[in-house]
Amino acid sequence: MRFDTPATTNPIDQLKVVGRPTDRVEGPLKTTGTATYAYEQNAAAPGAVYGYIVGAAIAKGRIEAIDTRAASRAPGVLAVITAGSAGKLDKGEFYAARALAGPEVDHYHQAAAIVVAQTFEQARAAAQLVRVRYARTEGAFDLAAAKESAPLSKVAPFAPPPETTVGDFEGGYAKAAVTLDASFTTPDQSHAMMEPHATIAAWDGGKLTLWTAIQQVNWGVRDIAKTLGIAKENVRIVSPYIGGGFGGKGTILSDAVLAAVAARKVGRPVKVALQRALMFNNVTHRPATIQRIRIGADSNGRITAIGHESWSGNIAGGRPEAATAATRLLYAAPNRMTRLRLAHLDLAEGSAMRAPGEAPGMMALEIAMDEMAEKLAMDPVAFRVLNDTQVDPEDPKRPFSKRQLVECLQTGAKRFGWSERPVRPGSRRDGRWLVGMGMAAAIRGAPVMKSAARVRLDNRGIVTVETDMTDIGTGSYTIIAQTAAEMMGIGVDKVTVKLGDSRFPESAGSGGQWGAASSTAGVYAACVKLREAVARQLDMDPASAEFADGMVRAGSRTVPLTHASRWHDLEAEDVMEFGDLTKRYAVQTFGAHFVEVGVDAATGEIRVRRMLAVCAAGRILNPKAARSQVIGGMTMGVGAALMEELVVDKRAGFFVNHDLAGYEVPVHADIPHQEVIFLDEVDPAGSPLKAKGVGELGISGVAAAVANAVYNATGVRVHDYPITLDKFL
Ligand code: MOS
Repeated sequence: MRFDTPATTNPIDQLKVVGRPTDRVEGPLKTTGTATYAYEQNAAAPGAVYGYIVGAAIAKGRIEAIDTRAASRAPGVLAVITAGSAGKLDKGEFYAARALAGPEVDHYHQAAAIVVAQTFEQARAAAQLVRVRYARTEGAFDLAAAKESAPLSKVAPFAPPPETTVGDFEGGYAKAAVTLDASFTTPDQSHAMMEPHATIAAWDGGKLTLWTAIQQVNWGVRDIAKTLGIAKENVRIVSPYIGGGFGGKGTILSDAVLAAVAARKVGRPVKVALQRALMFNNVTHRPATIQRIRIGADSNGRITAIGHESWSGNIAGGRPEAATAATRLLYAAPNRMTRLRLAHLDLAEGSAMRAPGEAPGMMALEIAMDEMAEKLAMDPVAFRVLNDTQVDPEDPKRPFSKRQLVECLQTGAKRFGWSERPVRPGSRRDGRWLVGMGMAAAIRGAPVMKSAARVRLDNRGIVTVETDMTDIGTGSYTIIAQTAAEMMGIGVDKVTVKLGDSRFPESAGSGGQWGAASSTAGVYAACVKLREAVARQLDMDPASAEFADGMVRAGSRTVPLTHASRWHDLEAEDVMEFGDLTKRYAVQTFGAHFVEVGVDAATGEIRVRRMLAVCAAGRILNPKAARSQVIGGMTMGVGAALMEELVVDKRAGFFVNHDLAGYEVPVHADIPHQEVIFLDEVDPAGSPLKAKGVGELGISGVAAAVANAVYNATGVRVHDYPITLDKFL
């Protein structure tokens, strides 16, 4: 099925199941510890032995020699594998092709060897006996130092091109009545998900099975096949449950590649989990940025020129952080410029992390908007409302399919009590606390990707859905069950959902907040076919057959759904392909974030007191799961504002705080009551279900709202994240 015109009325619109706050169908498995995560797939891969990765101790240079003799003789050791003995691994994407260093070392903690032993403890102990001789060379680790010579990026992930211009930015800015020219920095950040990267690999002849934690199963099949030089048909990836990804588990990484190599070498299944202390430097992270924003406005507050330049760094072949993405779409202005520059850095690969582009970009843009409002003596909400646009500001012929930013801002202001905000910064006290309020707008793209599913109706009336879609803790199982239930006119309890297996039809996977809309569209397409099969079986007209309450009705006839499947199961499979709707419409999600903070007047300690998000993101398929996504994003936004920072040792070239003791993220005690309001919205251009995504909208803008609240409380502007108390001095 093809989705290339806005959706019309369809069975989903009944909203008997879809749109309800259904509990997670897999919730009991997770809360009782019986959901099987990658590292726990012992029953599927009996007799597995353990691999332990030795991380390179330099950031840049060569491995001159590796002495594996002592490690090989250690108790229980089956193999010590290095680049010299691993076989060829040089094809495909960086993260897979360069899973094993040697002779060149690309970054700190890149794997130098993997030790395989009978037990985890034996592998870990033997790993300490591997002796590596390095020849260190100078590397580039300092973004600020590399900035001046950084060229324009050749690519712009998710939102090309890397440079955009409309009108005459420099001229418009020079002529503006009120101007702001401000620079900001955002640090390297880590996904820091609970479940580490983990894989069990097993070979059966030339066929490889990986039980691994991965967001896009099909990307993993593609990348491992290429890296090992085997056919995609000979790879199976199984990933039914994932303990968080946030973009860090987009595809296979070193754990999967090295488990596969090791299993081939020892002829047994091999388990590899990245030890926490290795994760921060071995795998991907969100790259740091330096951003410069210039805004010019007339004296009435209308923006006449907006410019956003962003610098980030990456390893060879790596891409820039597309921090200008939101600025290209959020506010009207006749003169515009955005530019992404990319420096070479010898740190681990920078890659996608929750709302790549928008999240760090809005950390800068939405502070700049707050400062501009202040210069104009305007309320920050009113300033944003005045500069709203209903068309893509870079392409005025392209309207937004739905854009309720103004409604989000106004609803939020009302519900949060924005009128109570102290206009003069640093003017409100509550005992020892300076109290302030801040807000920010939010925008995040709503991409959709080709997605397939298979559905089967059996004689008990159970519909089984199979797709390689993943559930990274987001609720995919539940919204897919709701979609199939609505389409087939049954309850969620009559739907079985099977996910995360490359033997199932290929879906979009979880990423870029495209998972919900894309995967349910694939299930919708398959269910349309299953309905046709049911109707044919019952001698009914497929076009007029109605499915409700376990019955099928056409004309005067009403029969149980199970009549169609009483002799044999009925099965249907289809793929939803997406046409060029996003060329005709800008399809985006919108929101507004409001935050109240208290700052200790003596110590500078910052406590978030209240948070509200208002979201307009198409049809909300499950308000309970969607709310969880948004409050998760809000929490991560607080982390970005106040805590999260990978500290670069600019001499040795690595992230110093490479564990969860040193890399701080919010805990429950840091987070107050959070409120989320979803505006009523259906977006016919979003997907056949008229849905979009919310998982990345939830973080976009949050950190700036916190920063603006901190300014309102204290009168001190901090442009360098995270906002820690030392920065008030
Ligand atoms: Mo995402 S950060 O595209 O999983």
